[in-house]
Amino acid sequence: MAATADILDVRAQFPVLEREGLVYLDSGATAQKPAVVIEAMDDFLRHHNASVHRGVYPLAVESTDLFEDARTRAATWLNAPVRGTVFTKNASEAINLVAYTWGLDNVKAGDTIVTTQMEHHSNVVSWQLLAQRVGAKLEYVPIDDEGKLRLDVLDELLTRGPKIVAVAHVSNVLGTINPVTEIVRRARAAGAVTLIDGTQAVPAMPVDVGAIDADFYVWTAHKAYGPTGLGILHGRPELLESMSPFIGGGHMISSVGEQESTWAEIPAKFEAGTSPIAEAVGMGAAVEWLDGLGMERVRAHELDLVAYAMERLAEIPGITIFGPPDAADRGAVISFGLDYAHPHDVAEIVARRGVCVRAGHHCAQPLMRRLGVGATTRASFAVHNDRGDVDELIAGLHDVHDIFGAD
Ligand SMILES: Cc1ncc(COP(=O)(O)O)c(C=O)c1O
Repeated sequence: MAATADILDVRAQFPVLEREGLVYLDSGATAQKPAVVIEAMDDFLRHHNASVHRGVYPLAVESTDLFEDARTRAATWLNAPVRGTVFTKNASEAINLVAYTWGLDNVKAGDTIVTTQMEHHSNVVSWQLLAQRVGAKLEYVPIDDEGKLRLDVLDELLTRGPKIVAVAHVSNVLGTINPVTEIVRRARAAGAVTLIDGTQAVPAMPVDVGAIDADFYVWTAHKAYGPTGLGILHGRPELLESMSPFIGGGHMISSVGEQESTWAEIPAKFEAGTSPIAEAVGMGAAVEWLDGLGMERVRAHELDLVAYAMERLAEIPGITIFGPPDAADRGAVISFGLDYAHPHDVAEIVARRGVCVRAGHHCAQPLMRRLGVGATTRASFAVHNDRGDVDELIAGLHDVHDIFGAD
């Protein structure tokens, strides 16, 4: 094991971490916000707030510029087309947008939709709703015993000519980093449209949406140090142009007659109603901040923590660590179980030391069934964590063993 690689020293930039004794290991659920994000939103609301794309007065022009700057910043950061970058409410809504628009227009009775056994419910239930509505079949790429996708089974499913293949970039439970560029290549060769759920990848590693080349790439601002209330859908512009609108209302139209309307250009066509403007500004600040840190450094820092945590977790009696055994194959997430304690008890006992971890099914019930458990405990890491945080978790797990595991 390399010496402690505390290459990021950003803890002091997170106001909430000033709370005494807080060891926040739940960034996979939602990330804490650095001061620059809070200040950008505060500044916007104090000095620039106005509705976007409507007013011609200076305040509205400023607001619109700040809002559109955030879109450009996000798209440029991830090498995605600005025109194809649509703001939604969260990642779930972004996936539903695709299912309800592209899906309802293109998926028919008897068609196949492919997802995987390791998806968050947002990349499962959205497709179930579509499949049930049109009479399509939902198929799952299984995982192997190391928590990696069975690409041989994907290949077999691709021979059935699925309409869409929807896969997580990084599993929110196993941490598995999926070979999404290769999956997109194979799916496209088989004639399928592709959607990648990048929700756990974007905050944790360099992501090049252009190089992955999926038709749709989805993420959510609140897990990437930005605010809640904003999801991002990067779509192939030609595809977005061909799609029906999702939600009707203001801003998404070109003209409205009594019986029919015509649609605005993308991305406005998919952004009905008043947008999450302050949220977009906050997301833009988060992106600028992450870009300033450098995603290679973010990845190196979190990889060090995950490797250290896996090494230390192995000292806990009766532990099962789910997912890839090699930290290099993981994002910033570790799920585990203890023979002698329920995950909720584990989370409650480590919380006595201020350690915040998540216990439950993590919105991944099909995966829980595959793992043969009802729930796991999950620690997830962020730029502000250090090895001392891991040590606190380990101390808490020794407490759990003392309480439940003693013979
Ligand atoms: C992999 C993955 N996809 C999608 C989501 C849903 O994100 P949101 O709650 O922002 O819609 C999550 C949230 O936990 C996630 O981890």
